[in-house]
Amino acid sequence: MACRLHLVLIISYVHLICLSSQQDTEFVYNGFDKADLFIDGLAKILPGGLLQLTNTTELQTGHAFFKQPFDFDQSSSLSFYTHFVCALVPPKLGADGGHGIAFVVSPSMNLSHGSATQFLGVFSISTNATSSSHLLAIELDTVKTVEFNELEKPHVGIDVNSPISLESALPSYFSNTLGKNISINLLSGEPIQVWVDYDGFLLNVSLAPIEINKPDRPLISRSINLSEIFQEKMYVGFSASTGNLLSNHYILGWSFSRSKERLQSLDLSKLPLVPLPREKEKKLSPLIIGLVVLLMIPMLMVLAGVYVYRRKKYAEVRESWEKEYGPHRFSYKSLYKATNGFSKDCRVGKGGFGEVYKGTLPLNRDIAVKRLSHDAEQGMKQFVAEVVTMGSLQHRNLVPLVGYCRRKGELLLVSEYMPNGSFDQYLFHDQNPSPSWLQRISILKHIASALSYLHTGATQVVLHRDIKASNVMLDGEFNGRLGNFGMARFHDPRGNLSATAAVGTIGYMAPELITTGTSTKTDVYAFGAFLLEVTCGRRPVEPEMPVEKKYLVKWVCKCWKQASLLETIDPRLGRGFSPEEVEMVLKLGLLCTNAMSEPRPTMAQVVQYLNRDLPLPDFSPDTPGIGAFMPVSMVAESAIEVPSVRNSSFSMFVTHTILDGHGR
Ligand SMILES: *[C@@H]1O[C@H](CO)[C@@H](O)[C@H](O)[C@H]1NC(C)=O
Ligand SMILES: *[C@@H]1O[C@H](CO)[C@@H](O)[C@H](O)[C@H]1NC(C)=O
Ligand SMILES: *[C@@H]1O[C@H](CO)[C@@H](O)[C@H](O)[C@H]1NC(C)=O
Ligand SMILES: *[C@@H]1O[C@H](CO)[C@@H](O)[C@H](O)[C@H]1NC(C)=O
Ligand SMILES: *[C@@H]1O[C@H](CO)[C@@H](O)[C@H](O)[C@H]1NC(C)=O
Ligand SMILES: *[C@@H]1O[C@H](CO)[C@@H](O)[C@H](O)[C@H]1NC(C)=O
Repeated sequence: MACRLHLVLIISYVHLICLSSQQDTEFVYNGFDKADLFIDGLAKILPGGLLQLTNTTELQTGHAFFKQPFDFDQSSSLSFYTHFVCALVPPKLGADGGHGIAFVVSPSMNLSHGSATQFLGVFSISTNATSSSHLLAIELDTVKTVEFNELEKPHVGIDVNSPISLESALPSYFSNTLGKNISINLLSGEPIQVWVDYDGFLLNVSLAPIEINKPDRPLISRSINLSEIFQEKMYVGFSASTGNLLSNHYILGWSFSRSKERLQSLDLSKLPLVPLPREKEKKLSPLIIGLVVLLMIPMLMVLAGVYVYRRKKYAEVRESWEKEYGPHRFSYKSLYKATNGFSKDCRVGKGGFGEVYKGTLPLNRDIAVKRLSHDAEQGMKQFVAEVVTMGSLQHRNLVPLVGYCRRKGELLLVSEYMPNGSFDQYLFHDQNPSPSWLQRISILKHIASALSYLHTGATQVVLHRDIKASNVMLDGEFNGRLGNFGMARFHDPRGNLSATAAVGTIGYMAPELITTGTSTKTDVYAFGAFLLEVTCGRRPVEPEMPVEKKYLVKWVCKCWKQASLLETIDPRLGRGFSPEEVEMVLKLGLLCTNAMSEPRPTMAQVVQYLNRDLPLPDFSPDTPGIGAFMPVSMVAESAIEVPSVRNSSFSMFVTHTILDGHGR
């Protein structure tokens, strides 16, 4: 038992020795509450542990020293390491302050000879560069002194025996994360960390804001032999001064050691707080709060307004059944942006069922956006399903549908943009070049093959319902492309989008549409009318023409009877055509527009006839059904797509046709 007690005592004793010897080479202060420092001048330790070197009194100094001197025995290394946190707080934030703080290594704690102002309480006129003063100071100087060759701005410097710095730099730190120097405002009032490291050869000084770790690269690194400056016993401490320019100079915490390894780290969280000048804030705060509130209210209102406006502007109708069409569904916002807000400059066409806009999606993809107004919710699901199906149709003579978007009372269809517009513009408008026979026949073949594909080549039979020159588009290479699928149903004023509604454009509508409805044969009829339209360069019904020419089908048949079939061809066609081919096409037109649906060929056959793979069947102008045009008047009024150019004549024609039709 006694033995154990002895052991404990011995261990405690060894500890005591270690502690006392450690105290000679290092110390740490996280605040100076219990610190026993030597202080003079204005210096004092404030309640809370803040060491104040000066307050804002003019032309004063203040010093604080660690009371034990350190042994700088020339026989061993003179190295020392220190880390401290200071703050320089001018009377008003953002204003000038003066003069600065210095970390001092001095042979004596009595610096009462040190002058205020630019001498920082360390030097004076008489100690001006006398080697006998044995002084080292690291200064954080906030005033430029011209006679000391000082830098323009507040600076950091190494002073030996003289206020004229051996080396100085603008306050900044090297950011380890950003890899560049970032400047520090010494007078910001914020705590600043300072490291002074001396290994016997190099004296390094580093700075950093309180929240930043020690920079990898020092601000100043200077080779210096302190053995000529230091005496055997040296004191370490701080000095600060004011002049006409004033600052509160504070030290928050301080760690010092003779060896790098034993330098204790500061506990930054325990450091005392720095009082910042309040007057300015106090005066401003009610004003600022008032201003902020005043500014916030209209800003919030504007933001709310913008939000509501945008919601309305980009509003869409989206129902759960549309989920499966997700990839084909465009947001209204993207279409709005693509077409510059559906601006007039982007409008490329206007039909009976809506307007067409050219748009550009990101990645320079050109699209055409068709805006269809409708009130029908009924049938919409089926229509969208069909539109999406059409999007999956793959034929080089179809205008690919890319997708759609739905809004209240509005449907937007997105298709590939066709740079050369619609075929009718070339057929009927004199300002455009008239297409040659070769161009016409090749476009007819393109459309025939597209239609044949729709009728037989796709997984299900797809009807076009409205074949005519204005629904034939021309791509960049003037290939014919069939567009506007199923769009005819938008003519129905009852808002009925049912698949069987008898709708289309007069002159292209087969007579049986009223009774048995649409079929592939009604598409063939319309294609026949289109064949004649392209060859004769006129529309199937021209109300202004003399009676015998008014109905194209009848007129062509009559001319055939009189063996003057070629009289019917487009005068703009010129001479570059083969008469047999033109006659064949005209006869094929009559064959397709047979009033009875049975004898009409299929589209597959039409393709073969056009390609001359198959001769036309035997028939004559007197064959029943040939050349018997029966205007479909029942739905005429609603079915008219009014072309923008011929508005007036067409409305005249509507009533005319109805009367005419009833007469027969
Ligand atoms: C500065 O400190 C001195 C000494 O403690 C005091 O007399 C003086 O009033 C203080 N001045 C200011 C401006 O606080
Ligand atoms: C400090 O030094 C000055 C002379 O520079 C002397 O007059 C003064 O008495 C000294 N003060 C102390 C406390 O030793
Ligand atoms: C102090 O240094 C300045 C600048 O180098 C010089 O002009 C002045 O004469 C020096 N004064 C004394 C007392 O050495
Ligand atoms: C001083 O900084 C240099 C890098 O600039 C470094 O190599 C050297 O070790 C540093 N010396 C001390 C004592 O920290
Ligand atoms: C950063 O500061 C150090 C010390 O002042 C200097 O040597 C260095 O060139 C500076 N680097 C850059 C990128 O400015
Ligand atoms: C520093 O100076 C002393 C005396 O002048 C000299 O003995 C010593 O070698 C010097 N040290 C270095 C590292 O230059």
